[in-house]
Amino acid sequence: MYATRPEARPATVEVFVDGVAVMVPAGASAAAAVLLAGAAAIRETSISGAPRLPYCMMGVCFDCLAEVDGAPNVQACMVAVAPGMRISRQRGARHV
Ligand code: FES
Repeated sequence: MYATRPEARPATVEVFVDGVAVMVPAGASAAAAVLLAGAAAIRETSISGAPRLPYCMMGVCFDCLAEVDGAPNVQACMVAVAPGMRISRQRGARHV
């Protein structure tokens, strides 16, 4: 008879999506954190204000543009989460 081993679980990190704390597997993208948080949108288009969420998850569609740790226009699907990362909705075009 073999002893059972504890279930292997990935390490998690805490990030904040629009101020809401979310536990995310280490190595996941900021876009994945947005989806795990259940956010209604992570950006609004600059012309019509239409809400957008990450779609392609591979850097093609740009629907995941967000503010990450205060930096605007970050493709959230191309950035790995880090402990304490703050991911915020980007409204319209970034402010320069
Ligand atoms: S989800 Fe498409 S570019 Fe990030």
